[in-house]
Amino acid sequence: MWVLLDRRPPAPALHIRDIRADDKQLLAEGLSHLSPASVHARFLAAKPRLTSRELRYLTEVDGRDHVALIAFDTDGDLVAVARYVRHLEDPTTAEVGLVVCDRLQGQGVGTRLGLHLADRARRNGIEHFSAIILPENQAALRLFTRISARLHTAFHDGVRELVGDLLAA
Ligand SMILES: CC(C)(COP(=O)(O)OP(=O)(O)OC[C@H]1O[C@@H](n2cnc3c(N)ncnc32)[C@H](O)[C@@H]1OP(=O)(O)O)[C@@H](O)C(=O)NCCC(=O)NCCS
Repeated sequence: MWVLLDRRPPAPALHIRDIRADDKQLLAEGLSHLSPASVHARFLAAKPRLTSRELRYLTEVDGRDHVALIAFDTDGDLVAVARYVRHLEDPTTAEVGLVVCDRLQGQGVGTRLGLHLADRARRNGIEHFSAIILPENQAALRLFTRISARLHTAFHDGVRELVGDLLAA
């Protein structure tokens, strides 16, 4: 009998918590360690450094309309960030963004963090998510398929827009 083996390495152990106002330097350093390809895939642009205004926006979140989760490995290094920001015009929908450090991509970290984020979003009354990704970003597409019940995709101006119904963790 043939047995299909999952040959992916086991998902690394993670400590996940909400981002805090005093995480500005941590976040800035984390960004500086990302490859240009990962930065481009996350921000759809080159992003050499975050301004202090952007760092305030990204770390001083309200935990309801704007949630950011950060994940650390067992050495205490920041390895991933996932966030949602509720749409102003449609409070049941939020824009989602994720990034995993290059070293740990493809090991289930993004999916795990994405499911946590989806759970938080659902508990805060969010039912749908949106995201904009590069058309060739298969990892993001598959991750968003994992965290959504139904996923609609459309191409606009060289990017892929995703809209989905959120699954809870
Ligand atoms: C996109 C990203 C967040 C995914 O996180 P990850 O931890 O690497 O992904 P996972 O290991 O959880 O895998 C998610 C899915 O993508 C697949 N995948 C992972 N890397 C892949 C790759 N390089 N090519 C194709 N598929 C890939 C996995 O097999 C998995 O699919 P499955 O569940 O159907 O088996 C991460 O790769 C990343 O940070 N990329 C740069 C930033 C970015 O693209 N952000 C998304 C835009 S918001």
